[in-house]
Parts: sequence; C-alpha cells; structure tokens
Amino acid sequence: MSVPQDLFDPAHYVSVRAPAERATPLPNWCYTSPDFYRREVERIFLKVWNYVGHASQIPQPGDYFTAAVAGAPVVVIRGDDGEIRAFHNSCRHRGSRIAWDEGNCKNLTCPYHNWTYGRDGALIATPLIEEEDGFRHADFPLLPVTLDRWAGFLFVNFDPDCAPLADYLGDLPANCGVYAPDTLACARRKTYSVAGNWKLYFENYNDSLHIPFVHGGTLARQSVKGRQRSTHEETEGAYITHFTRHEGSRGLLTGETGFPKIESLTGRYETGTYYPCLYPTLLFGWTIDCVWIFEIRPTGPETMDLVASSFFPQDRFDRPDFEEIAQRYYARVDTVLPEDNEAVGWQQEGLRASVNAAAKITHMETLCHAFDNWVLDQVLD
Ligand code: FES
Ligand SMILES: [Fe+2]
Repeated sequence: MSVPQDLFDPAHYVSVRAPAERATPLPNWCYTSPDFYRREVERIFLKVWNYVGHASQIPQPGDYFTAAVAGAPVVVIRGDDGEIRAFHNSCRHRGSRIAWDEGNCKNLTCPYHNWTYGRDGALIATPLIEEEDGFRHADFPLLPVTLDRWAGFLFVNFDPDCAPLADYLGDLPANCGVYAPDTLACARRKTYSVAGNWKLYFENYNDSLHIPFVHGGTLARQSVKGRQRSTHEETEGAYITHFTRHEGSRGLLTGETGFPKIESLTGRYETGTYYPCLYPTLLFGWTIDCVWIFEIRPTGPETMDLVASSFFPQDRFDRPDFEEIAQRYYARVDTVLPEDNEAVGWQQEGLRASVNAAAKITHMETLCHAFDNWVLDQVLD
C-alpha cells in the first residue's frame, strides 16, 4: 500500500487513538515499513528495558548467553565474582561479533584476530600486537550494557540515561510475588522463526478472540470460566495484563497431569492463569504449576524470532521423574505455539495488501488497542 511521506504525523492515527469501541487497528505500514521499524528501534528498543534471559541459564562463572535486541547484539556472562554483566557483543578491535549462542568460557576470544577478554570484559590479550603508548589494554574493555534484574529475570537497557528497572516494572513484581519468582529456574528454551512483524505477536497473545478458531483442537478444549475478555486490569508499570480462570493447568494439554501446584499460591491464583505482558516484547504466563515466557525478538520489519522458555520451581528439578513430566509441558508449547506462529504469518501476508483493509477492533481485543496506543505514544512526533 502507499505509505505516507509524513509517517509519524499523528493525523494518520486518529482512528487508532479513538476509544477502543470505535478504534481501528494500526495501519498496514506499521507492520511492513522499514522506516516505521527503524523508528521503533530508535524510540522503543534502544530506550526501554528489554528482557534478555534468566540468571538460571548461567549458574556458573564463565557461563554466558547471547541475545539480539531488535538486531543489537549482546552477550551476558557470569564473572568469577558471581556477578552477571552484559556487554555489547562487538570486539574493541574492529567490531567483530565475539560470542555465539550460549556456553561456558574461560575467556571471550574474538575469532577474527583473537583479541581476548576476561569474564569481566577486560581486554587481556592482543596476539602479535604489543601494548605501547596510546594503546593500553586497560583502555579497551568490552563496552558494558546496563543490566538489571528482578528475581532471576535479566533486562538490559541501551539508554545511558534510563530510569531504574523497578520504575519500568511498577507493580508487576508485587503482583507476581504470590508465585515466589525467586524460586523459579529455566528448564528449556526453544527458538522459533516467525514470518511476521513483532507487534503482531504481542497482539496475538492479548487477543482472546482467536482461541476457539486457531487453537480449536488444543487450548480451546480446556474448560475456561470467567475469562476477562473485554477488560484489562489497571497496572502501574509498562505492562498490560489479563487473567483467565480455568480447570487444571494452562501449561499442559488437556488430559495431562503434571507437577503439583506452586505451594505459595493463594486466592484467584490457584484457579487460573495470570498473563502480564511487559512492553515491548515479554509475554508471561503464570499458571498454577509452571511459568512460561515468550520473548519476541524482532529481526526486521516483517520477521521475528520467538524464544519460548519454560520455568518451574527449583525443587521440581530434583525429582527423579522431572524430565518425564517436564516433557508434557514442552509438548503443550510445541503444539500450541506453531498454531500462533502460523496465524501471525497469515496476518503478515494480508497486511501487504495495497489497501488498508484492517478496520475493526472488537470488544475482545481491547488489550491489542492498549498496546497499539502505547507503541504510538513512543514513536509519533
Ligand atoms: S575484530 Fe576482534 S580481534 Fe580483530
Ligand atoms: Fe494463540
């Protein structure tokens, strides 16, 4: 479709800004335009707290993992002092990437000319190149990225003037406290490529209308009572949330049995699932016996990766039947996520139409409307 020159003029978004009952979705170009995506990187991903992973992924000194935050490469590593630090994953010599995937290392060595950095980021060796006046190793450490954590959840922020993580999270930690998040550990991470814009995934997770249709043979078979379909809970923090009441665990496929309930749960949390979604890319599911995180990792205007992490209370890992039971939770992720991935792909294809066909937000998609408006709050002039 034709994309306006003045892409960030609020006049193009008046109907998105309308109250939800009269609002439209974002225009097509928000999901396809490289210019719109560039603005999101600048004004959103390089400004806010981005979830990158969990401390339990790197329990030992030298353990590390890598992440790309809207393309910006980061390495997160535990030092000999037990501290977790984040660095730009880019060599101080001529900028090569230095770390891939995850693992344990004595040092981080750049593959290009073997400049070598300690687990604290200090430059410790530059083979064939001697220190001299004007070139001291001490002046060329890996460049740090601000990292902060809530329980074991690790977040980075590229903005040197950013407000503390606690301000960004607001009352989210308090609202999740009943799940004893300090006791959780990550059991499995799995990455999917998705042929859609990152915002479509955030919307999909907050759209309860698609469940009987996209998940007709899976999620929709579970008995659900009192889903909050059209209202969202007030939050003090950069997130939206809904709560679904249902029988059993939302982390399992119908008919499966799993781990016991999380012992600390009380009140409504014993009878449903809490779905807070922190802007821009962290989708939580806190259910009665497990927790999952779906991380959206944009890779361009029309593509993204989705990283699905499964968490259980640490003491479940000690059970002899842990792996056997955990597989049932993974089966749920592996069955249901591809259904969403496919739906997001359909939507991306349709949004390439030469006209702006998408024209209606229903009363079951008001959280999508709230999210779209948050995006506009960040990117418009
Ligand atoms: S770019 Fe890393 S050692 Fe040369
Ligand atoms: Fe879904």
